[in-house]
Amino acid sequence: MPADRAPMRVRADRASAFDGVGMPLIRTEKLTRLYRLGDETVTALLDVTLSIEAGDFAAVMGPSGSGKSTFMNVVGCLDRPTSGRFWLDGEEVSALGPDALAAIRNRKIGFVFQQFNLLDRLDALSNVELPLIYAGVERGLRRERAAAALRRVGLADRIRHLPTQLSGGQQQRVAIARALVNQPKVLLADEPTGALDSRTSLELMGLLQALNREGATIVIVTHEPDIAAYASRLIRFLDGRVLSDTRQEAADARKALQKPMQPPSTPAAPERIPAE
Ligand SMILES: Nc1ncnc2c1ncn2[C@@H]1O[C@H](COP(=O)(O)OP(=O)(O)OP(=O)(O)O)[C@@H](O)[C@H]1O
Ligand SMILES: [Mg+2]
Repeated sequence: MPADRAPMRVRADRASAFDGVGMPLIRTEKLTRLYRLGDETVTALLDVTLSIEAGDFAAVMGPSGSGKSTFMNVVGCLDRPTSGRFWLDGEEVSALGPDALAAIRNRKIGFVFQQFNLLDRLDALSNVELPLIYAGVERGLRRERAAAALRRVGLADRIRHLPTQLSGGQQQRVAIARALVNQPKVLLADEPTGALDSRTSLELMGLLQALNREGATIVIVTHEPDIAAYASRLIRFLDGRVLSDTRQEAADARKALQKPMQPPSTPAAPERIPAE
């Protein structure tokens, strides 16, 4: 086990995503999701059996259409499997109806999307407050917790900014604060760096690594091997199945950030065409 995965610091004051390490937090058994389109059946997920443990930082990779988003949506309680079972934090979720599923999603899952999905007319603080409104938290406490979540992602000085007044990286940080504010069991991020440039992506991975060091359980989907290198587990999908699932020594985004970024490669000078 790599050194940075060894004893995870567990903060007594922080519930859920930041508690017990090494227990399966998500367990799936032959999870299958079929889509029926007219006479055709599309197999988006097929017999996926795996466990995500508390404290994991997993990257999910695979070609377009291999089932990555379907997997995230099912375990994130945004979608339901056609067959198979899955447990979240010891509770079987696959058997629940839509209302119970929505309640679990709000309490236990933090979801981050490629396109941030912030509400443009609300400032950063109000965006982060939204899950707390759904959870019935009273206003004073809501503001306090939303401001704390924004501080945690390094945006203490931007809480009154509208999404349009923030950079892409800052907007994604707001989305992460919003995903974490309910202290979910797991943070699921589907291509969180997909809309960001390489430096900003690296900064975001630095933030996710810091959260993971504090004990947060994180699963991200990415197409970029350079991004997956910052996770300590790599799960590859192909045609709706798990092709491989390996632990790896995670690269350190903080260290990478200290190095100057490679300048964009300059096109080679055009070859001289010898004068006739
Ligand atoms: N709502 C839907 N109706 C029908 N088929 C769908 C639907 N959503 C996804 N699929 C199909 O399920 C398969 C898996 O899709 P999914 O979105 O999970 O892939 P992905 O690995 O996330 O791909 P990408 O890297 O392009 O985001 C694909 O073949 C896709 O066409
Ligand atoms: Mg996808």
